[in-house]
Amino acid sequence: MDFFETVEKRYSHKEKFLPQEVPLKDLELIAKAGLAAPTGNNSQYVRLVILPDRASLQPLCDIAPTDGMSTAPAAIAVLTDPSAQKYQWNFEVEDYAAAAAQMLLAATSLGYVSLWLDSPYFDEAKQKEALKILGAPEGYHLRVVLPVGLPDGIGSRREKMPFNERVFYKKFAT
Ligand SMILES: Cc1cc2nc3c(=O)[nH]c(=O)nc-3n(C[C@H](O)[C@H](O)[C@H](O)COP(=O)(O)O)c2cc1C
Repeated sequence: MDFFETVEKRYSHKEKFLPQEVPLKDLELIAKAGLAAPTGNNSQYVRLVILPDRASLQPLCDIAPTDGMSTAPAAIAVLTDPSAQKYQWNFEVEDYAAAAAQMLLAATSLGYVSLWLDSPYFDEAKQKEALKILGAPEGYHLRVVLPVGLPDGIGSRREKMPFNERVFYKKFAT
């Protein structure tokens, strides 16, 4: 799929998924797209856990069920290691966000839908439980989970504000 078509097609799929499995090679392609993202100081703190089937995804779903997580055939969990900070600045948030955005586009490009799902894991107890399920080493953060699969239905869409309300030339215009 052409890059700009991919960008245009990507949307947050907040509804149910079809049960069709996602081949591991596609999940790996999506993961590779995430790891190819730029990282501050080339620090590469982002770690991914591929959850390739319902069995591996279900425990994470059980602690925070949503329509997507309850039906998705696969997911990729995005974690960061804050203790690995080597420089004056910590780019942990920027790094995982860049990786997640690239994975959403990669999933779209392969014909899947996905969703940036983080709020279910904001709760401290749920975050702790999720990290335990994922076997994450001490100190890691679970930043976002991207369910991946084919959509069950067309899925809801949100409108983007007009280009000229958000983009200016030479000077910010109010
Ligand atoms: C930082 C961030 C956090 C998000 N967290 C959630 C979430 O927890 N649950 C959810 O349903 N959508 C979440 N989303 C998806 C947004 O709701 C969605 O991107 C936004 O409404 C625009 O819609 P679109 O992605 O279809 O263009 C998140 C997106 C971002 C970038």
